[in-house]
Amino acid sequence: MNQYSDFAFVYDELMSEVDYDGWVKYIEEIIKKENCKVKNILELACGTGNMTIPLTKKGYDIAGIDISDQMLSVAREKAEKQGVELVLLQQDIRELDFEITDLDCVLCACDGFNYITYDDDLESVFSKTHELLKEDGIFIFDISSFYKLANILGNNMYGENREDIAYMWQNYFDDEENLVEMELAFFIKDEDGKFERFEEIHQQRAYTEEEIIEMLQEVGFSSIKVFGDFTFERPTDETQRIFFVCRK
Ligand SMILES: C[S@@+](CC[C@H](N)C(=O)[O-])C[C@H]1O[C@@H](n2cnc3c(N)ncnc32)[C@H](O)[C@@H]1O
Repeated sequence: MNQYSDFAFVYDELMSEVDYDGWVKYIEEIIKKENCKVKNILELACGTGNMTIPLTKKGYDIAGIDISDQMLSVAREKAEKQGVELVLLQQDIRELDFEITDLDCVLCACDGFNYITYDDDLESVFSKTHELLKEDGIFIFDISSFYKLANILGNNMYGENREDIAYMWQNYFDDEENLVEMELAFFIKDEDGKFERFEEIHQQRAYTEEEIIEMLQEVGFSSIKVFGDFTFERPTDETQRIFFVCRK
């Protein structure tokens, strides 16, 4: 039961209320505020291309990497429909291997790094990112906060009953390992009106802001800024999405 296999084909529908245009705008504001010239971007854990496609349309040269073939195939299909050419690579970012260096920007949007559940692995992603960036290049990513995973998602159950999709999403938070295990069960209506069920188990690691900063410093990032929930303010105790903006 791999993560983001069957789920890939309903991901966009379930994310339909996420304001990706606003997200792209926020990333561009960060770049502008940092006074940074960005032409090329490497996007880690790009999924179905919800950031990759609009950023490509805006004229950036982007390559997207994701571990899930299915997420990438959805991205390819969407890009083709919109007449956008994407460079997509199937790869586990824990073993990130990208040929082009001197990158202007590395991006990881929508909590991709929470899927990296071991410190050593995440530190190695940060280290490789540092190597790939040009001098003064910018690294922008967000994570779901410890507060969100432990107190909002953790030990909670969600569900929705839409016309064509119903799902149950049961979470368990392990406060020794700081891991949230998410059991997802989906029921998808087929052409004959019958519902097919599939399941996936996802695991996300809750990291504190301090843990992340320590790892970023360890691999050599100097200027590290931390913002909460699409603002330019410091996160509060109840911030759900934390943005990190680092310069090499
Ligand atoms: C919540 S989705 C975010 C997708 C996309 N960035 C977006 O904004 O919609 C998390 C993504 O991380 C990817 N992912 C998880 N672990 C990964 C790994 N080790 N290497 C590469 N991608 C990974 C998943 O396949 C999934 O596409």
